[in-house]
Order: sequence, then structure tokens, then C-alpha cells
Amino acid sequence: MQIEFVAPDSAFAANTAVAALVFADKAMSQAAQDLDRASEGALGRAVAASRFTGAKGQSLEVSAPHGLGIGRVILMGGGPRAEFNAKAAEQIAASAYAAVKASGLEALAIDLAEWPVEVAAQAGLGVRLAAYRFDRYRTTEKPDKKPSVTKVQLVVSDPDKATDAYDPLSTLSDAVYFARDLISEPANILYPEEFARRVKRLEALGLEVEILGEKEMAALGMGSLLGVGQGSIRESQLAVIQWKGAADPAAQPLAFVGKGVCFDTGGISIKPADGMEDMKWDMGGAAAVAGLMHALAGRKAKVNVVGILGLVENMPGGNAQRPGDIVTSMSGKTIEVINTDAEGRLVLADALWYCQQRFQPKFMVDLATLTGAIIIALGHDYAGLFSNNDDLSDKLLAASKASGEGLWRLPIPASYEKQIESMAADIKNVGGRPGGSITAALFLQHFVNGLPWAHLDIAGTAWKKPSSDATIPDGATGFGVQLLDRFVADHYEA
Ligand code: BES
Ligand code: MN
Ligand code: ZN
Repeated sequence: MQIEFVAPDSAFAANTAVAALVFADKAMSQAAQDLDRASEGALGRAVAASRFTGAKGQSLEVSAPHGLGIGRVILMGGGPRAEFNAKAAEQIAASAYAAVKASGLEALAIDLAEWPVEVAAQAGLGVRLAAYRFDRYRTTEKPDKKPSVTKVQLVVSDPDKATDAYDPLSTLSDAVYFARDLISEPANILYPEEFARRVKRLEALGLEVEILGEKEMAALGMGSLLGVGQGSIRESQLAVIQWKGAADPAAQPLAFVGKGVCFDTGGISIKPADGMEDMKWDMGGAAAVAGLMHALAGRKAKVNVVGILGLVENMPGGNAQRPGDIVTSMSGKTIEVINTDAEGRLVLADALWYCQQRFQPKFMVDLATLTGAIIIALGHDYAGLFSNNDDLSDKLLAASKASGEGLWRLPIPASYEKQIESMAADIKNVGGRPGGSITAALFLQHFVNGLPWAHLDIAGTAWKKPSSDATIPDGATGFGVQLLDRFVADHYEA
């Protein structure tokens, strides 16, 4: 997909769709008025003959209007003009692309010449995100099902300035693509070692990547993480990614930790067959952290950041851990494994402990597809936020608002600790159905050693099928990359 910024006087080929804004109460943008005049009023008549009012999210397509010599006009509802902004442009541009991507037309031009170049640049990001496609394994797809639009032209007042404004957003979208690719890969291809190899390749961007295998983790005492992976023939891995962008490479880093369960069968507490294939994306937290590191390196962020990924496969088998097993975590705390399907927290327990011991970061933020309960609580548009620190929470919530990736804070009351008390060990790995996402967060809190910490339960947001957001084609969302890039940029860079 080629995205370019062009000047207002550009001519468009016959195989092009041209999109122009119409604001609330049918207020045509300059671009829409120009098209209407050139088509001798065809657009105005089309609007009059429909229910299109210019409300946000509406669109009206007019095929081959007389006098224009182009394939199609798309009138995009922009809502009230005074409320139109970059975020709205991102959504609208993504919707316009989605509407024509498989139409047979080859190009889409979106006229934003009336708006600041930053608005057009954000529209470019919307298109790029909407154009994501995971088609590596499709060898027989019918040509008429494939996207036909290969070029998107954004009409702007100053193409050079707009290109400069788009540049960092293009870099950010590369990172989102990287995360989406990891999430989309099936588990026979992307197992822990393969995930680690792909992360290792990020060294080309200037990141430092270390991979710990089972031997190294055993020496560190990571009995909790290793217990999850022991039923799999695939070796568990811990990836440690460092970005040293601060003036002082030894300055205290920020830390992000991801759950990377490359496939979650549930283990001996095996999941039902129906929908189990979805558990290939149980590494969405690790993918988001890897994507964030990609984004930070891509824009040479002036800050030190550590990313830790706990990579395992949760399988049943002769050597799998059993319900009732007691494992000793790196922290020394013993854990009774009541349900082998509550494995994410076991992986994170050691990853979090290792992270704070080795790096003493300013804070730790973990991302994990941790509980089905968070989907019941919040659905697919908000991830759960749990934290022991109000300041950290507020900053994450602000970045959520700015990025459009939803977060909603939930409590972690000490009174619920009772639910994860074990009869035989220091703690147990499940707390029953009431507040299932909360007791999972409380469990994690035992392994943060008092550091400022936030946990994002992204079980509902890592994947959408079907998607309700044009910037997210059905499937992997890459949730967390944009949110955390924004969070780091707004608060921690010199
Ligand atoms: N990976 C799942 C959580 C999940 C469920 C993510 C559905 C996305 C969609 C996690 O490992 C899990 O199995 N959690 C259990 C915990 C329970 C056994 C306490 C769950 O949520 O049912
Ligand atoms: Mn599980
Ligand atoms: Zn899981």
C-alpha cells in the first residue's frame, strides 16, 4: 500500500475514488462543493435522495458521476465541523479506505486540503492501519476478493510538510504491523523460540536483545514460568529487550512485561474444543511489548526502556504440570497450581520478579491476555487497568484517551486476597469466579515487590472478530502499541 501526499490541483485517474468531507447538516467541505460543481450538481442530488446528513460515520458513495472522469465519489460524514480533528480524520480515512479497498478501483484520493497537515498525516495513519492484512498463507485467494486499491493519495495544502508529519506515524504503524503479524501467526509457526528469533531481529533497529532458555531460567529459580512450559516439547524462552535512548545509558529504565503464551490449551485443565484456536493469540501482551520496543527504537525515543517477554506454550502431556502441583517462583514464594489454565499469571510472576530484581525500573507495566472475565466485564473496546499507583494509572488513562485505545480502571481490594489463599502453599493461582480479573491482578501484585506497577488485561482487546473499528481489520489489533508509545512520549522523554 502506497500512501502519498499530493497538492490540491492534482488530476485523478479514471480508476480512482475521491473522498470528500461533508459536515453535519449537509455542510459540504470545499472539496465536496468543487466536486459537486464539476458534476453539475450530481452530488447534491445524491445527498437529497438519501438519508445522508454528514453525521459522523455516515458515508454516501456515488459511482462515476457525470463530468468528473473518476470512478467514484465518497462523501464522508464528518459530524459537526467544529468538532472535527486529527482523530476523526484517522477514523474517516480508514472507513473510506475500507469502503473501496476491494471495489476494483485502484486508487483512493482523500481531500483534506482545508485542514492542517497534521490532520492529513493522522488520516494517513488511519489508512495504513486499515490496510493491514495477514495473507501469508493464502495461496488460492480469488483475485476479486483481494484488495484492489494499491495507492492512497491524501490531498493537502503542503505535500512536503504533510509527508514530514506522516513520517513518525508511518514508523509507528510499522511497529503495530510487527505486533499484528506476531499475533496473527499460528502456533505451529510461532512457538517460543521462533518468537524469540523474530524479536532478536529487532537488533537491526538498535535494540539489545538477550534470550534466556530453560537452563538459564532454571538457574535463576523460575519454577513458576517453567512449570507452565514443561508439558510442551517447545522450549520456554525469556526475551529481554533493551532500548537505551536516554543521554545516560545507565539512567533508570521504564519496564514493560508481556505474557507470551504462544498457545494456551489450558494444559491438563484443558479448555473445551470450541474456540480453542483463538488461544494462538494468547501472546498478545508479549507482541504489544515487542511492538512498543520497535516503535521506541524506530523513533529513537530519548528514554531507557526494558521489555521482558515470557514465552511459553501451555500443553498437556506426560510431563505437564498437574492441578495441585506446588511450584517455587523466583521470588521464593510457593504457588499451588489449582488450575493449569490460569497459566499467564504463573509466567508473569517470574517475569515481573526478574524484571524488578535485575533492572530496578521506575515502574513496571505488564500486558496480558489474562482472563476471560475481563471480556465479560468490559467487552472488546476497553482493556482492564489494575494498579497500585494512582499517578501511573492517571498517566496511562490519559494516554488511552489520546491514542483511542480504551482502558478502564478496576480496583484491587486487599479484602479479595482471601480468595487466593492456599491451604498448602504461600498462594494459589485461582480465586474462583467472583472478580476473576481482580484476583488475577492481586496474584500478580505479589510479584512486583512494591514497585509502582500497572497491569493491563487485554484479553478482550488483543483481537477483534468482527472488528468495530475501521483502523483494525478483523483479527489482531496490536492493542497497546499506540497507547504505550504515547504514554512514554508524553511523560518520560527528556
Ligand atoms: N488465556 C486465557 C484467558 C483468555 C480467555 C483470553 C479468553 C482470551 C479469551 C487464560 O490463560 C485463562 O485461561 N484464564 C482462565 C483463568 C481461570 C482458569 C481462573 C479464564 O479466564 O477462564
Ligand atoms: Mn489459560
Ligand atoms: Zn492464557
